[in-house]
Amino acid sequence: MRIGDPTRNYFSKVRCRYILLTIVLVIVVALYVTMNLKNYGLYTGNHPFFAAQPCQYLNSKEKGQLLKMAHTVHKILDGFGIEHWLVYGSVFGAVRAHGPLPWDNDVDIGFNGSGTFATMDFNKFLAAFKDNGLKVYYRRWITSNVMKVYKDDQPHIKVDLFAFYNYRGWMKRAGLETWIFALNYNLHDTYPARLVEKPLPMVRFGYFKLPAPREGLTIQQYLYPDDWWKEVKPVTCK
Ligand SMILES: *[C@@H]1O[C@H](CO)[C@@H](O)[C@H](O)[C@H]1NC(C)=O
Repeated sequence: MRIGDPTRNYFSKVRCRYILLTIVLVIVVALYVTMNLKNYGLYTGNHPFFAAQPCQYLNSKEKGQLLKMAHTVHKILDGFGIEHWLVYGSVFGAVRAHGPLPWDNDVDIGFNGSGTFATMDFNKFLAAFKDNGLKVYYRRWITSNVMKVYKDDQPHIKVDLFAFYNYRGWMKRAGLETWIFALNYNLHDTYPARLVEKPLPMVRFGYFKLPAPREGLTIQQYLYPDDWWKEVKPVTCK
């Protein structure tokens, strides 16, 4: 082949494009992985779309309202026979404060998305909250069966409900977002199903008791792999 051979030129162009494509692909994959490894818990302030969790120390009246709301949600779920348990920050709350953490304005409750909940009419589920004076916010498609329970006249508090599904022994969340950020959800929102198999231990939470995952703080090793052993306040508290 002589220099200037059109075939050779063609092949080097193709190779050039190939290398470029590989570089772009490597960058995209590296970005995706880096993004996924980060902890986006609202307490970290890392979330690109949602504001950091406020550092909100509830007064005793507001704390009473939050406990009452959590108790109502617990009774509604019990009434339907939907297995549920404390999850995320509320597990720390139950262990360290026998109630919500002092700077928390919400209670996190996970429930079994299979079984009773899966077979019941979603509108019937929602109606029970309405009957108890509670509103429910949800985006079913994006974050499947994750709900925010709130009251218009008590905007400072809420109860977050998270459906978890048993995928081959691991409890995971569902929905489009969990697929796109699968790596992240696997690292921060997935835990062994054995931790929430019934019967669950009941732990004190304010003036009543709520079901909690088995084995104490073990679940937190899966939900907060970077800092579960420490007491971490929301960034806004510093
Ligand atoms: C959730 O519900 C399903 C269906 O009823 C049941 O098989 C499972 O044991 C329940 N609990 C967990 C932790 O998956």
